[in-house]
Amino acid sequence: MSVHSQQQRLGIPQLMAFKATGRKIVSLTAYSAPIARLLDEALDMILVGDSTAMVAYGMPDTLGFTLAQMTAHAAAVVRSTSRVCVVADMPFGSYQASLEQAFTNAAQLMAGSGASGVKLEGGAALAPTTRYLVDRGIPVLAHVGLMPQYVNAMGGFRAQGMDAAAAARILEDALAHEQAGAWGVVVEGVAESLGRELTQALRIPTIGIGASPDCDGQILVTEDILGLSGARIPRFAQTFGNAAQVIAEAVQAYADAVHEGRFPTLDHCFGVRKQD
Ligand code: KIV
Repeated sequence: MSVHSQQQRLGIPQLMAFKATGRKIVSLTAYSAPIARLLDEALDMILVGDSTAMVAYGMPDTLGFTLAQMTAHAAAVVRSTSRVCVVADMPFGSYQASLEQAFTNAAQLMAGSGASGVKLEGGAALAPTTRYLVDRGIPVLAHVGLMPQYVNAMGGFRAQGMDAAAAARILEDALAHEQAGAWGVVVEGVAESLGRELTQALRIPTIGIGASPDCDGQILVTEDILGLSGARIPRFAQTFGNAAQVIAEAVQAYADAVHEGRFPTLDHCFGVRKQD
C-alpha cells in the first residue's frame, strides 16, 4: 500500500476548520487500548485526560497523576487508533513552574506518546505558557472554567462563572489563550449563556463539557456515557448506554461456565477428542 492511500489521522488544523462550517467536534476521553479502539471510528478527537487518575485509578482528584503515567496511557491510545486526533493532558505540576519546565515536559509527553498536542488548565496567567509551547511547535488546547487541577483553590468541583464578574474573567482567560496561539479551548462547568458567549467571541473552537450545546464541540468522560462510573458521575454527564450491565452479564456467564466445567481448553481448540 502506498503512503498516500493510507488513512490519515485527523489533524488539529482540520479540527480548527470545522468551526467555519458549523460541523461539531465530537470527542470523548480514553485511557486504554480496548476503549480507544472502539472510539476511533466515530470521533474526531480523543482526550487522554488526567481524569484517568479518578476514573481508572480511583484517586479522589487529578492531582496525584504523573507525567510518566500520562505518557504511558497516551501512548496506548495512540497505538490503538489510526484516524482520530489524540490530545494528552499535562498533569498537575508538570507545566506551572516555568516556561522551560512546560516545554520539556510537553515535548516529552508528545515524543513519548505520539499525541498530536497537549491540553493545559489555567486562566490568563497561563497564557504565556501557551505562547511558549505554541512557538516551539506544540499545539495547545486550553481549559478554562471548572479546572479540576484547581479543586483545592475552588473549594470543590463547582460550577464557575456564575456572576457577571466571574463570567467576564473566564471570557478574558479564554481570549488570552486564543491570543497566545491556543488552537481551541475546553470550557467546563459554566452557565449555558457563558458557553454560548465564549463560542461567539472566540475565533478558535470551544469544546464544551457541562457548558453549552452551542459550543463548537463536546467532550465527556467515556466511562460516564457508558454507565461505568458508578455513583461518581458529574451532574451534567449523560448516559448513552449500559456497558456495566453487559460486563456484569458476561462475567456471570463466565463464572457459570467455570462452575459447570464448560471451559474451553487447547484440546477444544485443536479438535482433540476425549478418550473414553
Ligand atoms: O481530564 C479530563 O478528562 C478532562 C476532560 C473531561 C475535559 O479534562
